[in-house]
Amino acid sequence: MNEFHEANRKGWNAAVRAGFGQVDNTKDWRECYRDASQIFNKNELKWFSDASGKKVCVLGSGDNLAVFALAGLGADVTSVDISEEQLAIAHKRASQLGVAVRFIRSDVTDLTDLNDDTYDIVYTGGHVAVWVSDLWQYYREAVRILKPGGLFVVNEYHPFRRIWKETKNSLEIEFGYFNKGPHQWDRSEEIPDAEPGSLPSYEFHWTVSEYITAVVDAGTNLLLLDEFGDKPQAWEVASLGGLPEALLIVSEKKERPTKGAS
Ligand SMILES: C[S@@+](CC[C@H](N)C(=O)[O-])C[C@H]1O[C@@H](n2cnc3c(N)ncnc32)[C@H](O)[C@@H]1O
Repeated sequence: MNEFHEANRKGWNAAVRAGFGQVDNTKDWRECYRDASQIFNKNELKWFSDASGKKVCVLGSGDNLAVFALAGLGADVTSVDISEEQLAIAHKRASQLGVAVRFIRSDVTDLTDLNDDTYDIVYTGGHVAVWVSDLWQYYREAVRILKPGGLFVVNEYHPFRRIWKETKNSLEIEFGYFNKGPHQWDRSEEIPDAEPGSLPSYEFHWTVSEYITAVVDAGTNLLLLDEFGDKPQAWEVASLGGLPEALLIVSEKKERPTKGAS
């Protein structure tokens, strides 16, 4: 694991211990299991209409709301996250729901525990790519574990919303749109009792074209590109209403050419 990801893992574990790790406190995980539309927008949900009985992997599963929603749709779900503390909470919740989910602690850029050509659907996003120093390696691994013809669904917080300072009354750019980072910050500032400076965390900024190129370069054919939502989010400090909220990229893993085909 590279030094940025290892530092981020420690930060996420500390955040979970402090009660901040399960990011989306506005949605109840039990409700997501019963009703997938609690967590998936209709633009995404239509790709999961026949998820029942399918093998699905969620990368950077975090609060695992997507995992519970997909399990509720009848999918056989694997949940991957770098933070063992995130997975431990999700594991308990899965037991409470009585649903079998496979939990794997792993870096999304190195999924060696998972075999090639295994999943019908790989889903990732929310806020995962921002923690990853190599988007191309992340998506190559995602596509490697997909069956040929399988769906790769990326739904990320839109990069247009990432570049702003946390100022309330005016919009000021924190870093340029093309500045990849790493953008270092100190996670101990948000965790009571953490020693100042003890939790350096690293974020990376990917542009819209980088998301699309990394998905295609990983060996997929694009099926859908979409941007949707323009409401401010409760946790955002700057007033970002009017900017796109979500970037949705759906693609399909290319079939391998058959041997001897000309
Ligand atoms: C904000 S949460 C995302 C939660 C959820 N997917 C969503 O839609 O909001 C980010 C998650 O990514 C995980 N993560 C960060 N870097 C990772 C990496 N390199 N490999 C795997 N998971 C990672 C963190 O542990 C955290 O649980």
